[in-house]
Amino acid sequence: MTTEFKHLFEGKKALIFGVANERSLAWSIAQYLHGGGARLGFNFLGDALERRVRPLAESVGAEIVEPCNVGSDSEIDAFFDTVKKKWSDIDILVHSVAFANREELEGRFVNTSREGFKTALDISAYSLVALAKRAEPLMEGKNGSILTLSYYGAHKVVPNYNVMGVAKSALEACVRYLAYDLGTKKIRVNAISAGPVKTLAAAGIRNFRDMLAAAGEKTPLRENISAEDVGSLAAFLLSPMGKHITGTTMYVDSGAHIMGV
Ligand SMILES: NC(=O)c1ccc[n+]([C@@H]2O[C@H](COP(=O)([O-])OP(=O)(O)OC[C@H]3O[C@@H](n4cnc5c(N)ncnc54)[C@H](O)[C@@H]3O)[C@@H](O)[C@H]2O)c1
Repeated sequence: MTTEFKHLFEGKKALIFGVANERSLAWSIAQYLHGGGARLGFNFLGDALERRVRPLAESVGAEIVEPCNVGSDSEIDAFFDTVKKKWSDIDILVHSVAFANREELEGRFVNTSREGFKTALDISAYSLVALAKRAEPLMEGKNGSILTLSYYGAHKVVPNYNVMGVAKSALEACVRYLAYDLGTKKIRVNAISAGPVKTLAAAGIRNFRDMLAAAGEKTPLRENISAEDVGSLAAFLLSPMGKHITGTTMYVDSGAHIMGV
């Protein structure tokens, strides 16, 4: 990480949802925030991931490491109760969470099941609203900033991305509506639309390797992005450098999104 970010987040309290392992985009964002002096809190999903997340969180001096399935209002409430007790307020919320059943991420979109649709939209889009609702009172008077992660499949058809494309489209719409609602409290809400990066979530998409290869060959810059590129853009958006940016989706994809054929 470059030195420009040093002290940028000194004393800021940041909650990060979505670290699964050291490859997670959320982990790169966490490292930038830590490098800038932020105090960090993490969620984890289930015992298996706790074993991965806890050592990572400890390596950046995390003050909160708690379970939270974002599909459960009671787990979200319990998580924020802990945050309120430990910190009383927060400055930053990172939502780097998505999920769809594996069978929905291959083959024909028309075969998407009702349950599969609900799950993808609930975990990947509604959860941002649920977290923002709990974060709002804790960000009172703090010029808070909320960030989520999207993908180009929100706007154009990417074979096999299927219901996740619909969920990302909804997520980006949620960003705009939340930005409007929370703007009166000076809370900013943005999304980063990232090019493909090999992570646990990405491994669930059929032919992800082809997506990666195409992005490396057919983008204007003709190279793939890294998790670090997401971390640095996140640091910019979450910091005072992004002070008047809200409701937007910014691309870090080597320019892929400008291409036609
Ligand atoms: N990797 C890519 O190519 C790419 C590109 C663009 C956008 N994204 C987005 O970035 C975000 C992070 O994904 P990643 O690629 O870092 O993969 P990842 O697997 O490291 O992160 C996904 C996270 O979602 C969490 N999660 C899933 N269901 C959950 C639930 N019910 N409750 C709480 N947490 C839950 C997982 O525990 C995991 O930590 C996702 O929104 C993904 O769609 C990824």
